[in-house]
Amino acid sequence: MEQQGEQTKPKKILCIGLVCLDIISVVDAFPEEDSDSRCVSQRWQRGGNASNSCTVLSLLGSPCAFMGSLCAGPVASFIVDDLSRRAIDISPLAWQTTGQTPSACCVVCPSSASRTVLLADTNIPDVTFEDFNALDLSAFKWIHWEGRNADEQLKMMAAVTRHNAALPRQRRIATSVEIEKPREKLYQLFPHADVVFVSKDVSRQLGFDTPQSALRGLRGRLRAGAVLICAWAEKGADALDADGTPLHSDAFPPQQLLDTLGAGDTFNGAVIHKLANGCRLQDALTFGCKVAGAKCGFHGYDAIADKLTQM
Ligand code: ADP
Ligand code: FRU
Repeated sequence: MEQQGEQTKPKKILCIGLVCLDIISVVDAFPEEDSDSRCVSQRWQRGGNASNSCTVLSLLGSPCAFMGSLCAGPVASFIVDDLSRRAIDISPLAWQTTGQTPSACCVVCPSSASRTVLLADTNIPDVTFEDFNALDLSAFKWIHWEGRNADEQLKMMAAVTRHNAALPRQRRIATSVEIEKPREKLYQLFPHADVVFVSKDVSRQLGFDTPQSALRGLRGRLRAGAVLICAWAEKGADALDADGTPLHSDAFPPQQLLDTLGAGDTFNGAVIHKLANGCRLQDALTFGCKVAGAKCGFHGYDAIADKLTQM
């Protein structure tokens, strides 16, 4: 196992991006506009792509840390308790003094396998390069960014490149980025990570109807030797290896689709877990689809730990 400096602590995987409160209503059928109905159940859950990927990393046994913005108050306390319960290192959190901790209303509808999200995250400052620059990078073996405030994130990525330049290959920090939202500004992140996760939504917005055509069409945006991964719900996931070799994994649908909220975050976490532990890309892709498929068969994330023996 890699060691941190002269200490004996294992190096962590750091995920940077959104953390929010998800108020999740599970419904039999999607409600009509302007109706007033009962849901089957309702719960609070910590959410946000990077935060969910940390949950999965932790359940899979990877030491990890989370960096995102919070504003002190009852919602932040709920979130911090939940991160701590998962043994996710919260020391990188960026505590803001203005704005509100992000929250989302999520409607999960098992009968149509849909998850509909209404997110409020725009009145709290995002993590800046200055926040990032205060971290001791030697604590991390992998840093994953959820593409958000791309201009600041580019500066963070450049700092990791500088940090790595002084180190032998085996001690360098590996990097990944998720480009999930179809926003032009995020596309500048493509050439700045070792592993790039591009979503179905972004692929479609850029004119690609299949994961294979997206990978072929977008590969030119990556830096030489980088890996491109594209998950596509029930079609599984595809990837192009560093040398351009196309790879694929079918999906592993559960017996019953119950909760697809966070399937993509689960996939990303599971793939990073494998790659950060030295596995081949094909194995990581297949494992990602297994864990994400299993996750769609239960509510939340806890049961991932019970299903691991079957993967
Ligand atoms: P999201 O929309 O949450 O970002 P995706 O739709 O890209 O996530 O799916 C991520 C992964 O989750 C897929 O590669 C697949 O392995 C799994 N997955 C998602 N939806 C399903 C489904 N309906 N059946 C089986 N697996 C699924
Ligand atoms: C799932 C998720 C939710 C959150 C929403 C934000 O992928 O991260 O937890 O509410 O997406 O877009």
